[in-house]
Amino acid sequence: MNKHIEVEYQDGVQLVRINRPEKKNALTTSMYYGLAEAISSAQTDPQIRAVVVTGAADSFTSGNDIGDFVNQSEKPLDQTDAKTTNSSKGPVPELLAALDDAEKPVIAAVNGLAIGIGTTMLFHFDLVYAAVNARFAMPFINLGVVPEAGSSLLAPLSLGKQKATELFLFGDQFDVQTAIEGGFVNQAFAADQLMPEVMQRAATLASKAPSAIRATKALMRQFGPDLKAVMDAESAVFAAQLRTPESKEAMQAFGERRAPDFSKFR
Ligand code: COA
Repeated sequence: MNKHIEVEYQDGVQLVRINRPEKKNALTTSMYYGLAEAISSAQTDPQIRAVVVTGAADSFTSGNDIGDFVNQSEKPLDQTDAKTTNSSKGPVPELLAALDDAEKPVIAAVNGLAIGIGTTMLFHFDLVYAAVNARFAMPFINLGVVPEAGSSLLAPLSLGKQKATELFLFGDQFDVQTAIEGGFVNQAFAADQLMPEVMQRAATLASKAPSAIRATKALMRQFGPDLKAVMDAESAVFAAQLRTPESKEAMQAFGERRAPDFSKFR
């Protein structure tokens, strides 16, 4: 198990905590694999009947590790191997497949910042609860890249086209009320009540008829969109965009703690 992914068990519930607070729980390649492994292994463990994912300290996750993006952008496009972020078989698809294929309920407890894939992965959970002070963002545009994790389809479906466009094109942070109105957060709780409320709900689900839960989830996804096709298309554009001078300027600006200057690009 990855040292930044902690797992605990309580009342038939597996609690998975993203724990890299010094980097606001930014996700590295091995952390994606650790998260995916934790969610997948819960599916075959008869003691576990629901999974909760949360983050340590003040963040759920600040998204993909920007350093990993920089490393990836330095590789030629045709050498993108199966282990790099956002290739069709890499760590991001592996995490999303673990969420999409989970037969048991998977619940997000968004305890703070949920940036980039921290927000877009939420479209793949069964239930999402958040602290009242949680902040969300899909700031791909600010990094010169594009939406991922199927969000180019799932965000407009959930939020409506105009709202999704606004959140994608400005890339600004938004609050929990917007996320609830946008249909991808179920309910908000006071920060100190979030985990007790979520764990109680997870324990309730863990006490319900397990095969009926599995069958209900399977029925709900059987006529859903072809997310794999969407994610493959996104991955190809994302990988190309990551190598543009625009994106390199954006990543460098993040490292230098300044605003990016896109004025010279066309
Ligand atoms: N990847 C790598 N490091 C990250 C990170 C990320 N996604 N997000 C935050 N960090 C690091 C910062 O570089 C900083 O490291 P340092 O102390 O070694 O300099 C540390 O985490 C704390 O972040 P800081 O920016 O000081 O905290 P903040 O509260 O002012 O802002 C964020 C938090 C998350 C809003 C801000 O860090 C941010 O915008 N991060 C980038 C988010 C992002 O664009 N994710 C990818 C989307 S595709």
